[in-house]
Amino acid sequence: MLRTKPLKQILADAEHPDHRLSRTLTVTDLIALGVGAIIGTGIFVLIGTATVGDAVRLGAGPGITLSFLLSGLACVLAALCYAEFAAMIPVSGSAYTYSYATLGEFIAWITGWNLILEYGVASVAVAIGWSGYFNKLLQIAGIYLPDWATHAPGGPEGGVINLPAMIIVLLCTWMLVVGIKESARITTIIVVIKLVVIGFFIAVGADQVDTANWSPFMPNGFAGVGAAAAIVFFAYIGFDAVSTTAEEARNPQRDIPIGIIASLGICTLLYLAVAAILTGMIPWQKIDVNAPIADALGQLGFKWGAAIVSVGAVAGITSVLVVLLMGQVRIFFAMSRDGLLGNWLAGVHPKFRTPHKATWITGIAVALLAGVVQLGEAADMTNIGTLFAFLIVSVGVIVLRHAKPDEYRPFRTPFMPWLPILAALACLGLMSFLPLVTWIRFIVWSAIGVIVYFVYSMRRSHLNRAPGGTTPVSGSAGDG
Ligand code: ALA
Repeated sequence: MLRTKPLKQILADAEHPDHRLSRTLTVTDLIALGVGAIIGTGIFVLIGTATVGDAVRLGAGPGITLSFLLSGLACVLAALCYAEFAAMIPVSGSAYTYSYATLGEFIAWITGWNLILEYGVASVAVAIGWSGYFNKLLQIAGIYLPDWATHAPGGPEGGVINLPAMIIVLLCTWMLVVGIKESARITTIIVVIKLVVIGFFIAVGADQVDTANWSPFMPNGFAGVGAAAAIVFFAYIGFDAVSTTAEEARNPQRDIPIGIIASLGICTLLYLAVAAILTGMIPWQKIDVNAPIADALGQLGFKWGAAIVSVGAVAGITSVLVVLLMGQVRIFFAMSRDGLLGNWLAGVHPKFRTPHKATWITGIAVALLAGVVQLGEAADMTNIGTLFAFLIVSVGVIVLRHAKPDEYRPFRTPFMPWLPILAALACLGLMSFLPLVTWIRFIVWSAIGVIVYFVYSMRRSHLNRAPGGTTPVSGSAGDG
């Protein structure tokens, strides 16, 4: 359980011809990928619930700006820890791979298992958010799809299945199978569109701000601000997706830390502006929870503005979905390459050089869930799993400094060990604001992970086949 995978072997496995991915991504591609992964359902949709509140928690009111700041700070701290790992271990798998090198196989497995929440379940949440704005757009154009076909069961709309959410997931999956370079190019175009749309909202909205709407600043006190911070944390998820593509980056040691920190910085500034302007434009109680950004413009009479924002949201959320799906696939890929998941999953397509089997399996599972799950539930689960992974990475960076002090570190987390300790505390603090039901689900999910590890993965691990950890990856994962 405590065996760690030697760094040399991690790097060597990544170069094995059966599992090698092509190195095509530049630093601009990586920043675009980061921004592409970050700006999505969080800022376009969840900001509504976080500001107004829902059945189980209080809203932040105008204090939502503070919530974004707190969550953003936690992410910046975690990002500085991620960057050290990502530069040192520039291979697929993100927090999973890092903890395999530091905290042992069992913690690595649990981390990977929880990253399924961060990427897989986040993809579900994002697809549902996409479907909401897609519907809004169709409605602006005068097209009304039936409620049963556009909402999951269990909500007030009387939905049966969320078909648009399922279809977009399958389209993105197909795109990823065809090739990463093409996906990155499309992502770049979409990133530009969404930056323009957010800039447009800021420009139009800034003129409409009435500072009276900002007071009282924290109508529900810190309880509201904290609960909202734990929700809008979702809006920052994705910066670490940059690190999951390290094997496809041309110059990972330099470019991965730049990609992570630059994309997170850009998004934090934009979010603060959007949050301040949104709560300045209309009284916070009047903010819509389904399509808050577009709706705020609509309320002030900018119908065309609402349409533009909806187009941007649909495009923007699509790019988030692509990157998150890709991140999930890379994590499955890394885990299966190590033997902890079926080795056949790690097969790379002979022509496209993409892990097509893991991609299809991920896409189909996400599509099925996106058809039947509610947005808030998926987002809360994503947040708790991600915060847990961030916690592990923060601890891991300290452990590795002690375990391997002389290893070459192209990027070093500053203010050791205080910064990682602060990062870990910030993650725990945000987790403490998530609802009890989310905690229970998280514990059940982790327990299932523990069982799978002991029943299957522990024995299948490649490190198990050769104690001492020098086994090369078996060649059985090829595509025949
Ligand atoms: N940060 C991503 C979003 O807001 C997951 O959709």
